[in-house]
Amino acid sequence: MKRSGSGFSITTFVMLSLLGSYAPDALADTFVVYGASGSVGSVIVEEALSRGHEVVGVSRDPGSLQNENTNFSAVPGDVTDPDSIAATVRGADAVIVAVGGVGPGNTPEEAVAYRGALAYIEAASRLGDATPHVIQVGSGTTLDTNGVRVFETLDLEPGTFVHGLFQGHWLALEAYRQSSGFDWTVMSAAYGSIMDQGEYTGRYRLGDQETLFDRNGSSLLSREDYAIAVIDMAESHTVTGKRVAVGPPY
Ligand SMILES: NC(=O)c1ccc[n+]([C@@H]2O[C@H](COP(=O)([O-])OP(=O)(O)OC[C@H]3O[C@@H](n4cnc5c(N)ncnc54)[C@H](OP(=O)(O)O)[C@@H]3O)[C@@H](O)[C@H]2O)c1
Repeated sequence: MKRSGSGFSITTFVMLSLLGSYAPDALADTFVVYGASGSVGSVIVEEALSRGHEVVGVSRDPGSLQNENTNFSAVPGDVTDPDSIAATVRGADAVIVAVGGVGPGNTPEEAVAYRGALAYIEAASRLGDATPHVIQVGSGTTLDTNGVRVFETLDLEPGTFVHGLFQGHWLALEAYRQSSGFDWTVMSAAYGSIMDQGEYTGRYRLGDQETLFDRNGSSLLSREDYAIAVIDMAESHTVTGKRVAVGPPY
């Protein structure tokens, strides 16, 4: 649900009052965040909390998730375990998956992003209509630049960490594309663009397959601006069943 102060009218107030239980928190959503301890996920958590939402941070070690905001809670969970996902996400308004890592062999099939996508799809088959919209933090290597997939331009050695990580993102995207019956969105910022170099602007742009650049040819985006894009999507559910590029305004 979008928290837009300007959109809240007297008429809306009267309607909510007639429904019986108006309270400011009635406009808050509950978001489950996998990867809440990570460099990208932690910024997404803060963006959601700053808008007054309830955030459930998931970690394999929830004791490591310290946050004094009373709207934040930490729970144990494993994004590669469908049982764990099904139990954790039921009732949420959206789920954000900002996980990284690979397995011991560095294969794409072992990448946590891919295994997490498969597990979410399996959990969705059990939850049915109760499956929340899932927003996966994607990789810019799955985008195209001048029509060529960025991953193909990097010439990475199979068996290396980055090859497994990036190709795992591609497998995750393909798995979501072949899924059905629930809402998903993969949000990919340009390769290397949200590595804490971009400046905070409060603005972003959404695209399709192509990497997004600003008028100076830069694709840098601050993590904070990327997080705004993710939480806008989690509130609005405007693009589902699709991967979107996220980039700086032109
Ligand atoms: N386009 C770009 O420029 C760009 C830049 C940076 C990152 N990214 C992408 O963003 C994603 C997150 O990256 P990051 O830098 O934030 O990673 P990070 O700091 O290394 O954090 C990784 C997160 O994954 C979680 N995780 C790993 N395995 C898990 C499991 N089995 N179950 C639940 N959680 C698990 C960890 O949670 P616990 O350890 O607490 O369980 C941790 O919070 C990655 O997919 C990365 O490829 C894109």
